[in-house]
Amino acid sequence: EKSNQVKIVEVSPRDGLQNEKQQVPTDIKVSFINKLSKTGLKVIEATSFVSPKLVPQMADCSEIMTKITREPGVNYPVLTPNLKGLEKAISVGVKEVAIFGAASEKFSQANINCSIKDSLSRFREVVERSNLAGISVRGYVSCVLGCPYQGEVSPEAVAEVAEEMYKMGCYEISLGDTIGVGTPGSLIKMLAAVRKVVPIERSALHCHDTYGQALANIYCALEHGIRVFDSSVAGLGGCPFAKGATGNVATEDVIYMFQGLGFHTGVNLIDLVHVGNYISQHLGRPNRSKVAVALNAK
Ligand code: HMG
Ligand code: MG
Repeated sequence: EKSNQVKIVEVSPRDGLQNEKQQVPTDIKVSFINKLSKTGLKVIEATSFVSPKLVPQMADCSEIMTKITREPGVNYPVLTPNLKGLEKAISVGVKEVAIFGAASEKFSQANINCSIKDSLSRFREVVERSNLAGISVRGYVSCVLGCPYQGEVSPEAVAEVAEEMYKMGCYEISLGDTIGVGTPGSLIKMLAAVRKVVPIERSALHCHDTYGQALANIYCALEHGIRVFDSSVAGLGGCPFAKGATGNVATEDVIYMFQGLGFHTGVNLIDLVHVGNYISQHLGRPNRSKVAVALNAK
């Protein structure tokens, strides 16, 4: 049944920062996460336990998790591609993790250095170990509406990976338009294939706004029953292994649209704009949320 509650998964400390060339000081990241925690957001993806050689910006993952102030009722999931990352995450008290696969073979190789098939068996180990530790696991599928190396990705290929990840025990499947090429046209076809194998209320949409289609796609997904959306304050974001991927859709813009539709997010928009301004200032660039720019000009 359609409800008027939506969940925002704030991915800016992870997706938003992972592609920043300049190392952001750990203390800035910690204060950024702590500020986000006070806006009413319930899920803040905090960092990723990946190879520091490949993603130097996330090298301080353990320190981040020990330094942040955990707000009651807020989840702080992290990315863990393998058992090594998971064990490190467990040792610093992480309660929720995400595994990340892809619907495109070439992107899987570029991003996590293995085939889709091999990634699924790695992920199965991560889910099994997480279950033992009482940790819940979210599953990402990347390139659901297109791949930077391979171009088109079929809805069936997306459904196949989504189904495997759901069946192995992921409580939610986040469908990633990694390079922001999708439109409501391609999205509807993809969702039609995925909903046959993953319940729509267990699916989430993760939009990058490269082609300016993110809000249209989110509205379309909302109409099709999706109630969980990933976004990033100030429109930060990008993937080091997806050339041309720009920022995630800005959380401020998503919240503004949901407010207009009468959907409840529990997030205070003005507080969020201030946090977006704070991190944008530190990165030395303008806030990329149109709503934030408009509200800042008032
Ligand atoms: P690999 O090379 O296949 O792994 O990497 P390996 O087991 O052969 O290990 C190689 C080296 O990495 C070893 O170190 C390991 O110790 C180390 P060395 O002996 O050379 O010094 N290593 C690790 N170090 C720390 N933490 C770990 C870890 N694992 C191995 N967990 C691996 C495989 C996946 C680890 C690697 O390819 C990697 O880290 N990739 C980074 C992927 C990434 O962070 N991508 C961006 C996030 S995904 C994304 O942005 C998309 C998303 O937003 C959705 C969307 O938009 O579509 C989620
Ligand atoms: Mg992403």
